[in-house]
Amino acid sequence: MKVLVVGGGGREHAIIKKLKENPSITEMYALPGNGGIASDATCVAIGAKDIPAIVAFAKEKAIDFAVVAPDDPLVLGAVDALNAEGIPCFGPTANAAIIEGSKVFSKNLMKKYNIPTASYEVFDCMEEALRYLESAPIPTVVKADGLALGKGVIIADTREEAMAAVRSMMQDKAFGESGSRIVIEEFLTGPEVSVLAFTDGNVVRPMVSSMDHKRALDRDQGLNTGGMGTVAPNPYYTEEVAEECMERIFLPTMHAMNAEGRTFRGCLYFGLMLTPNGPRVIEYNCRFGDPETQVVLPLMESDLLTVMQATANGTLADVEVKFSDKHACCVIVASKGYPAKYESGFEMELPADDADGFIYVAGAKRDGERLLSAGGRVLGVTAVKDTLEEAIRAAYARVGKVRFENGYCRSDIGARALQASKK
Ligand code: AMP
Ligand code: GLY
Repeated sequence: MKVLVVGGGGREHAIIKKLKENPSITEMYALPGNGGIASDATCVAIGAKDIPAIVAFAKEKAIDFAVVAPDDPLVLGAVDALNAEGIPCFGPTANAAIIEGSKVFSKNLMKKYNIPTASYEVFDCMEEALRYLESAPIPTVVKADGLALGKGVIIADTREEAMAAVRSMMQDKAFGESGSRIVIEEFLTGPEVSVLAFTDGNVVRPMVSSMDHKRALDRDQGLNTGGMGTVAPNPYYTEEVAEECMERIFLPTMHAMNAEGRTFRGCLYFGLMLTPNGPRVIEYNCRFGDPETQVVLPLMESDLLTVMQATANGTLADVEVKFSDKHACCVIVASKGYPAKYESGFEMELPADDADGFIYVAGAKRDGERLLSAGGRVLGVTAVKDTLEEAIRAAYARVGKVRFENGYCRSDIGARALQASKK
């Protein structure tokens, strides 16, 4: 079996390592991959958004199955293009990926099908948005409609901040065309939970829940990042909450997409907030989360390739999707300065993987035998143990064995989860 994974971050590294547990895979390619992924796959310098080049490569190598992991190629139709050439693929087609590609689409979908989310207004005229903000409840949340690398969301504590956010999106085009339409929504409170789920349009098979840590610094201070660490499972996500989410959110979302003629096949990511009034959808993503994948897949006991193929074929109901009851913690080591300005090119030495500890490389390149940092988030240092406390301790012990001068990490990944689990 020849398998191709589109993407080149820590998430893709975790997907590739998990896929490779299946012995029928004889060739594994990553486009573009990175210097760390190169230990597990043949990396080819084709950008994840270069769809014609991806398709040409897949045809040339007679790829048997492709996995498109990042949002951009999914929204741009990479799966449609590969399918059109007869290459089976894991991931939603473009008309379903819009669930992440457009916040306006996803908010309107939730409203139409009664899926619980923050109340909201949509604006494509800046003056109207500013007028609305004169009397809107504060704090409020301003979101750019389109993809904005996870940065198109501004929580405004004052009216002035909210207005400045609207101006930066709609007038100064801080997120390009993504900000020409915006959503202004109700500010919600409560613990956040990420749930990734396989769905083929017939059934939804949720994976183990997880908790992301989005801010750059300890105690949730500093700038928003792509994610500085994760733990799984998320202690706030009890069985009772899981049942409610399945009934009120997961299945209704799958049915809604079917009813719209946009059947979603792939990994649907539910970003949830457990508010005092029940679970609410904060966001949908059309793909595996990063760094959620780095704690979720190590806990998966079923064969990932089999589940992905069944998802693509519409036969997910026939396969088992099983997770262990262990705990995982992933600590992201980022370049100093990330998510603002940082430098790359620092040499790194990493401890070898063992049975319950691994490093997923998010940003690195090779220079002969040397591995050099490349990018903001560089490593996802992960441990799996019987308890959350042990998993956190083991992940940090492994971080201590990494040599990377220019690296920094948060020191409190999992601390809040641990506190919650002890209540
Ligand atoms: P997103 O990029 O949509 O995941 O938003 C980034 C972060 O902003 C989320 O993880 C939440 O912490 C926060 N956020 C988004 N929407 C809301 C909301 N309506 N109320 C409170 N916080 C929110
Ligand atoms: N960790 C959040 C995301 O993947 O969007």
